[in-house]
Amino acid sequence: MSEQTSFLRKVKHFAKTKLAKRQEQADRSVLISCLSRTNEKKFVTFLSRHGDIKKYFFYESYGMYAVVEYANQESVASLLKDAGIPSVNHESLVPFKSRLLSLRNIGSADSSNQQSGQLCQPQTTIPINELIQKLSREESIDQQVTSLTEAYQLTEENSRLRFLVCSLLKDIAAAYFPECTIKPFGSSVNGFGKLGCDLDMFLDLDSISGRRAKMPKSGLLLDYQLKRANSERAVTQSILSVIGECVDQFGPGCVGVQKILNARCPLVRFAHQASGFQCDLTANNRVAMKSTELLYLYGELDPRVRSLVFTVRCWARAHGITSSIPGAWITNFSLTVMVLFFLQKRSPPIIPTLDHLRDLAGPADKSVIEGNDCTFVSDFSKIQLQSNTETLEQLLCEFFEFYSTFAFNRFSLNIRKGKEQSKPEISPLHIQNPFETSLNVSKNVNATQLERFVALCQESSWLLQQSEMKKPKGATGASTSTPWGLATLLLPSQVAGIKGRKKRRREPASERIKSLLESLKNNNQQKQS
Ligand code: CTP
Ligand code: MG
Repeated sequence: MSEQTSFLRKVKHFAKTKLAKRQEQADRSVLISCLSRTNEKKFVTFLSRHGDIKKYFFYESYGMYAVVEYANQESVASLLKDAGIPSVNHESLVPFKSRLLSLRNIGSADSSNQQSGQLCQPQTTIPINELIQKLSREESIDQQVTSLTEAYQLTEENSRLRFLVCSLLKDIAAAYFPECTIKPFGSSVNGFGKLGCDLDMFLDLDSISGRRAKMPKSGLLLDYQLKRANSERAVTQSILSVIGECVDQFGPGCVGVQKILNARCPLVRFAHQASGFQCDLTANNRVAMKSTELLYLYGELDPRVRSLVFTVRCWARAHGITSSIPGAWITNFSLTVMVLFFLQKRSPPIIPTLDHLRDLAGPADKSVIEGNDCTFVSDFSKIQLQSNTETLEQLLCEFFEFYSTFAFNRFSLNIRKGKEQSKPEISPLHIQNPFETSLNVSKNVNATQLERFVALCQESSWLLQQSEMKKPKGATGASTSTPWGLATLLLPSQVAGIKGRKKRRREPASERIKSLLESLKNNNQQKQS
């Protein structure tokens, strides 16, 4: 077995078990709001009365919190049995018991309670200025890209917290559907998530037992009587409407609940205060689960994939190409597909096409969802990669060059074929959805936003070609912090300056206002549809 094959086999095993393991850990965990001066030793001793603690960590989000994972499920039950319902304003509280608890200190505060000793795990990325400083101290552009990826990617703790929030939400949905599961998808689990990214969740009702694969030939049998709706979409909408209502009325720490049920993919959006996550809960969204798996696979095939995606995402955010507000902006998902397409176009290609991954699939991989072929290989060891030795620096330069000159007016990006194809419809940016091939992933993007992206690619490509940009400024090893290389690409002022030099463009403020108006218009259209 070659080294690559054995590595890929391990990766496959890891991917399959990782999600189930994380879910199971989350079910054995509790989330506790603590006093900021809680003594760690006392806290652990107090909680250990219910059983062995496997792991715990503290973090801050509008106050101090701790995630505590017990070794056994029984410990959680024991802890909950011990917890009380606060007696103040009793009638004004919804007595909904969940695994989100508050720790109080009654009686006189003894001195051991006065010292805070906990190390808080960061749940957000370092500010962009600090990142620029950090990158400026690196010695090569390749190191800068790697360093950015390390600073931005989800930590082990943040990933645990994401699974825990899904598990807490599952407890709410379980009031109606006791056997349901809530799974994270999107950047929380596809390997491209940055600290602070939203939490996309999928309410999975297919895990409910009792679905008959085969009818017995004869004899008596019992079926549940079920309510029928007009369509699958109507079922999804009514389930999300009821669960959304529950989350809104009873979900501890769930605020700003919005039911966006008329969107193409109906969802309930809310903020989960204790974790600080912006959450999107969907149901019946199996295709998105598949694209999450696909992105994970691509990210694991070659480390350059994730590094390049992180860098491009960070660069785009620094320049307002992407935004946390929905609108005519390019989304992170579109950007990721653009990076994948670019890597398929290298010579030799760094990653294979989706059609190739489909051709490698075995019978067990066959997956057709709502008429869409979502089949692709799950046995990573069948994938043979070509030996492309380009460095991250070369790839970054080439990425900007590639999209500086791409004929967006004529072509659509297609990662299924790894080739550009004639646009099937008029839209400034056309990126074919990998599985729902009649859909454009970047339908929301307007011409202004695409122009901004292309202009910034041109500027960044130009910047990276300047020889003085390619090496650290000042002596290596010194605590020099003059931006160079990738750090320069993240500086807004520098880009604005170059914009002025190259050609006169509209002011950024007017761009923002235009995008906002565009987004309001889109929102209104969505509401009316
Ligand atoms: N998705 C999709 N088609 C779209 C938008 C999203 O299939 N037009 C799927 C993708 O699988 C995506 C997931 O829904 O990963 C979640 O969407 P979103 O939150 O917009 O993107 P993320 O990849 O999670 O990136 P971010 O970090 O910006 O949340
Ligand atoms: Mg997301």
